[in-house]
Amino acid sequence: MNNGTVLLLGSGGREHALASKLVESSLVERLISAPGNPGMAALGEVRNVNPEDVEGVLSLAAEIEPELIVVGPEAPIAAGVPDVLRDAGYHVFAPSKAAGRLEWDKAFAKDFMNRHNIPTSASRTFSSDEVEAARDYVRNHTLPVVIKANGLAAGKGVVIAESVEDALEGLEEMLSGSAFGEAGHTVVIEEFMEGEEASIFAVSDGSSYVLFAPSQDHKRIGDGDTGPNTGGMGAYAPAPIVDDGVLRQIREKVVEPALQGMRAEGTPYQGCLYCGLMVDSQKNVRVVEFNSRFGDPETQVVLPIWRGDLFQLFRDAASGNITEANNAPSVGSAVCVVMASGGYPGSYKKGEVIEGIENVPEDVTVFHAGTAEIGGDLVTAGGRVLGVTAISGDADLERTIEAAYKGVEKITFHGGVWRRDIGKKGVRV
Ligand code: GLY
Repeated sequence: MNNGTVLLLGSGGREHALASKLVESSLVERLISAPGNPGMAALGEVRNVNPEDVEGVLSLAAEIEPELIVVGPEAPIAAGVPDVLRDAGYHVFAPSKAAGRLEWDKAFAKDFMNRHNIPTSASRTFSSDEVEAARDYVRNHTLPVVIKANGLAAGKGVVIAESVEDALEGLEEMLSGSAFGEAGHTVVIEEFMEGEEASIFAVSDGSSYVLFAPSQDHKRIGDGDTGPNTGGMGAYAPAPIVDDGVLRQIREKVVEPALQGMRAEGTPYQGCLYCGLMVDSQKNVRVVEFNSRFGDPETQVVLPIWRGDLFQLFRDAASGNITEANNAPSVGSAVCVVMASGGYPGSYKKGEVIEGIENVPEDVTVFHAGTAEIGGDLVTAGGRVLGVTAISGDADLERTIEAAYKGVEKITFHGGVWRRDIGKKGVRV
């Protein structure tokens, strides 16, 4: 079916950025997002279907007959929605449930990396019936120690404990299920890696791949990387910490062995492989985590500066046909400042009226993350509300940061919070 119809599943800032790039393609005639958000509604149709509702998605697909289905978030991948859609004959851009295990089962990912000599930190896995052994392990571990929920936890299932007391508390909360439910019933306890984090996305058809510009997320709520972890408070690209030597290591020691390993294990990886990396002071790279989808908010900065055809790339990835022609340069720089609801990542109010988006400067795009339209008003509807993103053909990061904050200045909603230091790491390098 070459009808140029795309069904995009998801509703966050990442999906708004995917939607914006997909509609740039001359091959896209019609974009339908499910459930989408008010920003995505300005780019195509939106349908109120939950991406994890397999029957609902199948019935929507039967109605619109998409040439390609793009799955944004991890939850439908972990639920096997792409597999069902592929079995029904659709072209789907997303890994299978088996390949997506690199994200939804952190213990599997660690074992996989060890099997394929992909550099990562030393770790051990414990389940909820090994509480005493886990406590002993933590008591004897060097500090800080990292405790990760094994399953999906919206980017928040990580405790970096500076003291044994904090480590034991984090462990207790995870293994008892009080912090992350089922996702925390197994934990991975690992060595803390020193260095700077970077994210890089590889889109693969199972064998060949295309890399996007490296970026850096800002995971903590507070300036200077302080306070609790969030889904990500901002990002910028390209990240200069990833120089040519680091990039070569990423290709040769991470991406290629991961793709080869997945093929060898009978679960070829077709989709976006998110490589969360630590680059140490000697410029050695280790993997912090793999995710089975694009990053949020990194997508909001990586895609706008990429000069290729995203629809063509996704279609070729979905059909095993990535070639050199899918590669494209990334030009300039982009900075995304996330405006969040007061109280996030804890509890927060919804329904605050958002004003001023129409006043942002021309070089700023506002990606909707947690918004809704109620009674003609645009209101807050999530923790991360907007990704205010300056996009520049200019590589001067300081200027792009300034432009992003000029956009933030124009927007108001009651209780809104944001970091003031997004991108600064890239200027210091
Ligand atoms: N930015 C972190 C993530 O997407 O998991």
